[in-house]
Amino acid sequence: MSTNEDIINYTIKPHGGELINRVVEGKEREALIEKANAFKSLTLNPWSISDLELIAIGGFSPLTGFMGEADYKKVVEDTHLENGLVWSIPITLPVTETQANEFNIGDDIALYGEDEVLYGTLKLEEKYTYDKEKEAQNVYGTTEEAHPGVKKVYEKGNVYLAGPIQLVNRPKHDEFSDYHLDPAETRQLFKDLGWKTVVGFQTRNPVHRAHEYIQKSALEIVDGLLLNPLVGETKADDIPADVRMESYQAILKNYFPKDRARLVIYPAAMRYAGPREAILHATVRKNYGCTHFIVGRDHAGVGDYYGTYEAQELISQFEDELDIHILKFEHAFYCKKCSNMATAKTCPHDASDHVHLSGTKVREKLRNGESLPKEFSRPEVAEVLIKGLRQK
Ligand code: ADX
Repeated sequence: MSTNEDIINYTIKPHGGELINRVVEGKEREALIEKANAFKSLTLNPWSISDLELIAIGGFSPLTGFMGEADYKKVVEDTHLENGLVWSIPITLPVTETQANEFNIGDDIALYGEDEVLYGTLKLEEKYTYDKEKEAQNVYGTTEEAHPGVKKVYEKGNVYLAGPIQLVNRPKHDEFSDYHLDPAETRQLFKDLGWKTVVGFQTRNPVHRAHEYIQKSALEIVDGLLLNPLVGETKADDIPADVRMESYQAILKNYFPKDRARLVIYPAAMRYAGPREAILHATVRKNYGCTHFIVGRDHAGVGDYYGTYEAQELISQFEDELDIHILKFEHAFYCKKCSNMATAKTCPHDASDHVHLSGTKVREKLRNGESLPKEFSRPEVAEVLIKGLRQK
C-alpha cells in the first residue's frame, strides 16, 4: 500500500522537501471559523486571495505564509529565501498604512475576500515598509509604470503584513471544477497514470501551433504533459481564462493521445516578470510534481521589456539548485518550405518563408471574427476562440 509520503515523493520532491498544506478541515476548521468571528478583519483583493490559496495548497512550498522582511529582502536582492532555497518573486500581503495601524504584532487576522467570504486567517508576526522602486527594478527589471507588474507594485499599499496563514474556505473555481487539482492531487494523478517523468507547461495564451510543437517535442522524451494554464488575474487585453480553457480542451481532444496529457488550472495571478517569473513558474510546477518544465521564447514577458532568451539565461543559473529539468526551446514557427513547424535549429530557410503572428495581431483578428491561418492555429482552436470572444 502506498503511503502519503510515497505519493508526495513519487516523481520529484517538493521545493524544500515538504509539500505544505495549510488547508484546515473538519472540526478544526469549524472551530477556527467560530474563533475568527472575534478576530480583527482584513479584506484581500483577488490577487492576494490567489496567493493565499497557493500558499495553503502547497503550490508555493516551502512558504507557509506571507513573507517576512528577511525573506523578502533576500528574495529581492538575491533570488533566495533566508534558508538558502531559490525563490524569485516576493509573496507578500500589501496593506495601506492606515490598515496596518489597526493591527498589532501577535494578532490573529480574519482574511475576507471582496465577496465577503472568510477565506483564511493570518497570525501577524511582522509589518514592514519596503522600497517599491527597488522591488520593481530587481524583480521586474524596470521601474517604468507602463510595465503591468510594476504598475501593480506602485498601486499597492506601502506596508507588508507577514506571518503564517491557514485556509478555511477554498476560493471557488466552479467553471473549471473538472480541472481543479491541488499539488497533492496532481502527484496522485501522475502516480495513477504511471507517469514517472512529467513536463509542466505554463501558459496565459490560447495554445497555438508553436506551443503544441514544443509540448510535443517534450513529450517525445517524457511520460506525460501537465498543461497548466494560469487562470488568475491577467492584464485586460489577454484572452479571458474561460475562453482559453475551452481552447485547451479542443486541442487536447483533437491532437493529443488521451493518456499522455492532462489539463489542470494554475490559479495564480500573472506578474509579467519574465525571467524571475520563469523561475517561480518552474518552482511551482515542481511542487505540482513535474520533473521537467518548458521555458520557450520570452517566457512570462510583456512588451519589449525582456530579451527573447533572457528567461532561459537566468533560469540556467539556478537550474541545479531548483532541481527540476528545464527544457529550453528556441522561437518556433511554421516554415512554408519545410511544410512543418521548426526553429532556427532545424530549418535552413529564410524568415520570409516563416509564418509569424504576434499576440496582438492574433487578438485583433479574433476580435474581428477573422479566422487564423492553419499554420498558426489548429482550426478547432480558432473556432472556439472566435465564438468565445464574440460572446464576450
Ligand atoms: S507566458 O507568459 O505564459 O509565458 P505564453 O502562454 O505565450 O506566455 O507562453 C507559454 C510558453 O510557451 C512559454 O514557455 C513561452 O516561452 C513559450 N512560447 C510561446 N510562444 C513560443 C514560440 N513561438 N516559440 C517557442 N516558445 C514559445
